[in-house]
Amino acid sequence: MRISIFGLGYVGAVSAACLAKNGHRVVGVDPNPTKVELINDGHTPVIEKDVGELIAAAVRDGALEAIGDGAKAVAETEMSLVCVGTPSRPNGSLDLQYVERVATEIGAAIAAKDDRHLVVIRSTILPGTMREVVIPALEAATGGEAGVDFGVCNNPEFLREGSAVYDFFNPPKTVIGESDETSGDLLASLYSDLDAPLIRTAIEVAEMVKYADNAWHGLKVGFGNEIGIICKALGIDSHRVMDIFCQDQKLNLSPYYLKPGFAFGGSCLPKDLRALTYRARALDLEVPILSSVLSSNRMHIERGLNLIMGQGNTNIGILGFSFKPGTDDLRESPIVEVIEGLIGKGHELRIYDRNVSLARLTGANRDYIVNRIPHISRLMVDSIDEVLAHGDTLVVGNGDAEFDGILDRLRDGQVLVDLARVSDSTSIPGRYDGICW
Ligand SMILES: NC(=O)c1ccc[n+]([C@@H]2O[C@H](COP(=O)([O-])OP(=O)(O)OC[C@H]3O[C@@H](n4cnc5c(N)ncnc54)[C@H](O)[C@@H]3O)[C@@H](O)[C@H]2O)c1
Repeated sequence: MRISIFGLGYVGAVSAACLAKNGHRVVGVDPNPTKVELINDGHTPVIEKDVGELIAAAVRDGALEAIGDGAKAVAETEMSLVCVGTPSRPNGSLDLQYVERVATEIGAAIAAKDDRHLVVIRSTILPGTMREVVIPALEAATGGEAGVDFGVCNNPEFLREGSAVYDFFNPPKTVIGESDETSGDLLASLYSDLDAPLIRTAIEVAEMVKYADNAWHGLKVGFGNEIGIICKALGIDSHRVMDIFCQDQKLNLSPYYLKPGFAFGGSCLPKDLRALTYRARALDLEVPILSSVLSSNRMHIERGLNLIMGQGNTNIGILGFSFKPGTDDLRESPIVEVIEGLIGKGHELRIYDRNVSLARLTGANRDYIVNRIPHISRLMVDSIDEVLAHGDTLVVGNGDAEFDGILDRLRDGQVLVDLARVSDSTSIPGRYDGICW
């Protein structure tokens, strides 16, 4: 393929070198004449393992050249990868001036071209930037329509500086957000040799994945370091601890606990987080990440309560109120807190939970249910149907299999608030609302 790459910094130079090695004909574009000159002399503009050798070989073979003229680069290629910088402004917002400028420049060059061109944004941009900034700039400059007259993809870059070339050929994943299938097919063909999951998705999802990834990576480092300083103060080797922590690929390094849903609760997580952060305070340690976990959780409980009350109905039916399906444990169940909030605001409730009903009759939690939360216990009914008959707002509090397909059982005028993702419907005003989807 003939590919132009706009921006010859870390991402652009590595991409140019690696794509040229893969047999593509690459034209690099950068307004910085020093970078252009360096590449054309067979040198790398960035210090990065293996890039120098790859660029020298690619330039020698005629597979790579650099120019300052973006219009010429677009005219000579089928696809442009945009790798320009997206730095922070002083207030933290994203500076999109380079992305906008390059989109306008590429758009003008597309207008002067007969063949269909594909524009791929590899720079890191916040969700919505493609539709609100990049596509309008391209459409204004081309006079055409994205996805029809030219293609647009968002293809976030996951390389790490220091091992960028290795990461290019061994990425954790390839994510393509596409304006249309033809564009996605063309871009996917660029990565067909890579042994990595290739995910094709909506443009906004691709944009957001990059931020979820980097926020997670930062959180992991901060978490590891906070555990580390507590360990150090207690005379424990943090690496022994985290080596064991990392061996747990069921609960720790796994998808478990990472799907957006309702707040955590139960008899362990809140109690143990309180104890750990209390100990850190007693050791005069500041652990802002660990200390903010419970307040984040508390805010999420309030968010759930507000979402339910925001539907504007007095009669509310709750389906599932233990903190997760398959248990009757109500200690620190966040749904119990929501229920108490609703009762306090004068709502009429009916509550159904198969496991809690059983426990009310026989289980070890009978005493807790009957004596500690009698105000809730007396609102319990024996079937889903009774809850459906009562509530104008229905709330699914946990993901018990009994609640599958519940959305299809609503009568007209009933609305479902889903705290457990029993439906993957998107929000339908007056009918369905998910806590974080
Ligand atoms: N560096 C990384 O490890 C990394 C990893 C993943 C994603 N990213 C993202 O990729 C993007 C690029 O990062 P980087 O570190 O390579 O940036 P960089 O600052 O090293 O390089 C950006 C280049 O774009 C050039 N440029 C500016 N305007 C241009 C224009 N109109 N036409 C052509 N070139 C132009 C600049 O001269 C510069 O050489 C950023 O959005 C960044 O967040 C970076």
